Amino acid sequence: MGCGYLGAVHAACMADFGHEVVGVDVDERKIADLTQAKAPFFEPGLPELLQRATQSGRLSFTTDVSQVAHDPQESTVHFVCVGTPQRAGEFAADTTYVDAAVRALLPHLQPGDLVVGKSTVPVGTAARLAAMISQAVPGALLAWNPEFLREGHAVNDTQHPDRIVYGLPSDPDDAARAKALLDEVYASPIAENIPLLTSDYATAELVKAAANAFLATKISFINAMSEVCEAAGADVSVLAAAIGHDERIGPKFLGAGLGFGGGCLPKDIRAFMARAGELGADQALTFLREVDAINMRRRTRMVDLAREVLQGSFLGRKVVVLGAAFKPESDDIRDSPALNVAAQIRLQGAEVVVTDPAALENARRAWPDLHYEDKVEVAADGADVVLLLTEWDQYKAIDPAQLAGIVRQRNVLDGRNALDPQAWRDAGWAYRALGRPRV
Ligand code: UDX
Repeated sequence: MGCGYLGAVHAACMADFGHEVVGVDVDERKIADLTQAKAPFFEPGLPELLQRATQSGRLSFTTDVSQVAHDPQESTVHFVCVGTPQRAGEFAADTTYVDAAVRALLPHLQPGDLVVGKSTVPVGTAARLAAMISQAVPGALLAWNPEFLREGHAVNDTQHPDRIVYGLPSDPDDAARAKALLDEVYASPIAENIPLLTSDYATAELVKAAANAFLATKISFINAMSEVCEAAGADVSVLAAAIGHDERIGPKFLGAGLGFGGGCLPKDIRAFMARAGELGADQALTFLREVDAINMRRRTRMVDLAREVLQGSFLGRKVVVLGAAFKPESDDIRDSPALNVAAQIRLQGAEVVVTDPAALENARRAWPDLHYEDKVEVAADGADVVLLLTEWDQYKAIDPAQLAGIVRQRNVLDGRNALDPQAWRDAGWAYRALGRPRV
């Protein structure tokens, strides 16, 4: 149920492992694409996987939920993979789609079936859904099996997860039955040598919230250090590398820059705070407000730095933005820091031209006031400042000497600490980055 970044990849991977899979979604365009083995969004490896899985005859897609009905002799596992976006005007997550998906399943469930929640939900949702399911179809069960995949690596993360978590019913017999079914689904090669943790529903739900909160905190921590580095004339990239050598800290997710965006981390930390508040534990998570604030401050700082480089005004200036997606290897522009910065600069009077290898179509639809160009050379023509805001490999590989001949002024701002400052400076550019000394 749900064929977005999570569900489509999960469906294709499960079919590739040998299961018979039906993907259900209410979006007809998405289902039309998937039925033709076309990925409805950019995700490396997914087109090939869809081709293979569809050709095997084990994978099909439909908008008709009654297609999940099956032979009562068999047990079917129904994965719920729909989104839980942030509610308009508040921090809390909107669980309407999860509820709707489970409700749509109910008439087709049979005793012995297992519903498996994968969506990121406020703690307590699984217990509520389990009651709904067992009341409607005695003998049908619910498990919670959080998903930790990253966009851009979704196929590999699904095929080779670093851990599997099962949140199981409290009744020991039900728990054993649910676990046995999940074990069958994830049987070798997925589950081989992968740590498996079993828990109650609430813990499984919280594992996901905690993991995302930790990752967001790690990014905001290094971005806070970046602010101090800037004030002190120090270099956050060296600092990050140095502290990352300590195994207790580790080098990953210490990339200082424009901070986190996307459809998960920002809304998940907010939903976590909102849920903790409902539970009377809001004090425990007030630090996440600071994590969020540090993150949002990076965007304003980027705009300020660009204005500073242009001697205090954007009026009559051309700004080129490299990257629209919230991160490389994705066409997802949900809460994209790059587009947020681009829009702020546009509002302050500059002509802003955005380029991206995958996300332009989505960006155009969501932010029609910005200008877009496919090619970097065209976008950068006559620019007063170049902003690297999403660190696609092709942008990291740009030859600064070549770009120097196209722009009006050689100003480059590295919003992701992804470029080689020396190479750009050698080619005559004024290189500036968040958290690094000016030189
Ligand atoms: C995240 C979690 O990683 C994943 O486990 C969960 O299932 C969903 O949310 P995703 O949103 O796909 O995945 O992207 P991720 O790779 O985590 O990046 C999130 C954001 O953080 C991006 O905007 C990225 O640019 C930013 N980031 C990441 C940094 O700013 N610095 C870093 O060091 C790492």
